[in-house]
Amino acid sequence: MSSSTLLLGQTLSFTGDPFLGSPAEAARHDPHGAVLIANGRIADLGSADHLRKTHPAATVRDYGTAIVTAGFIDAHVHYPQTAIIGSWGARLIDWLQRYTFPEESKFDSEAYARSIARQFVRTILSNGTTSFSTFCTSHPASADAIMTECHTQNLRVAGGLTCMDRNVPTALQDTPQSAYDNSKSLIDRWHGVGRLTYAITPRFAPTSSPDQLAALGTLWAEHPECLMQTHLSEQREEIDWVRTLYPNFSDYLHIYEHFGLLGAGGLYGHAIHLADREKARLRESGGAIIHCPTSNMFIGSGLLPVRAAKAAGLPVGLATDIGGGSSFSMLHTMAAAYEISQLTNAPLHPAQLLWLATIGNATILQMQMHIGNLAPGLEADLVIIDPHSRPDIEAAANHADDIWELLFPTIMMGDDRAILDVWIAGRRINRG
Ligand code: GUN
Ligand code: ZN
Repeated sequence: MSSSTLLLGQTLSFTGDPFLGSPAEAARHDPHGAVLIANGRIADLGSADHLRKTHPAATVRDYGTAIVTAGFIDAHVHYPQTAIIGSWGARLIDWLQRYTFPEESKFDSEAYARSIARQFVRTILSNGTTSFSTFCTSHPASADAIMTECHTQNLRVAGGLTCMDRNVPTALQDTPQSAYDNSKSLIDRWHGVGRLTYAITPRFAPTSSPDQLAALGTLWAEHPECLMQTHLSEQREEIDWVRTLYPNFSDYLHIYEHFGLLGAGGLYGHAIHLADREKARLRESGGAIIHCPTSNMFIGSGLLPVRAAKAAGLPVGLATDIGGGSSFSMLHTMAAAYEISQLTNAPLHPAQLLWLATIGNATILQMQMHIGNLAPGLEADLVIIDPHSRPDIEAAANHADDIWELLFPTIMMGDDRAILDVWIAGRRINRG
């Protein structure tokens, strides 16, 4: 018989969508809870007393008052931008030209791609992120590097070759045919291997010709099991540029729609400045807006009203968008989402923030059958959060009346010292 492990702590899981009713009622909290792990999965969830009695042979790991919940998921990130986080003083187009494209050009070196992939994965794990969807560069080796690293570490991850055939330096430029061919062979090599998913990835309309968007739309139609990720309506200057490049389209989303790049499994980063028609088409098609709050502030893009988007029926994910984003931490990203929600007069409840970073993102990445919550049968990707990790918030933690008052100061600190432990498919990982 294989061995099992019983984690004890304050278990926190979701039974519903906290945007649909009273946020706290969508969650289940047990201050003396337990999660039983066997064969890499959650085998049982219940009270510590009950599970200790029913599984006396399990190895017990007692986390005391720490919170046991699903690992964080980052729905939009650029792992190749790890080394340009915090690049000062530019807006989107200038930032891409000044910092991003020169850094991404370095990924013609396989050794460099492998070293950044390793560094990125180590960093996100230390912040409690167990899954993500990443852009790569236009070099197939950049996709191989992150897929290899994630496969080795048994992470459930999505990623894809970033396709761009114009308006980028020659060293990064591909063609419609090479983007199609290289993406297709990467799908064959990686999609469904271990826990990996392939995401077809046109960078955004300004860096893809109509022929390239058409080729990638064809590829998505041939592989509907894959995700599709891109950027949409992030900054006003970008939208003006798109209008000059694609003058015959009614709006930005219409371009993706026309070329077969709109649908469920479509992930549209930022999507801040949308017309009513675009919102309606996203809602009808099931395409998801990915909110990137630290990036939207860092590059000066704007404030997305998340509650209004959810109330309008749009699927919304949450992401760091490294390296436009200014933190690898999903705790910090939740804090930034909260601050933006305050500035848009519709504050997000901590349950809504945690839901976005776990089951919400899992659903958007079409991984909710595997990860994103504490429930029997799901893979045991877990994070253990210590709400007493910093002396300066100890007083606040001590007078908390419920789990949300206890957790919220830790969210707002966004500090990786709060991440006590991370479990990947039932294996406690060494984050050293
Ligand atoms: N739009 C196109 N490429 C990028 C990128 O790398 N980062 C961000 N934030 N926006 C983009
Ligand atoms: Zn991005």
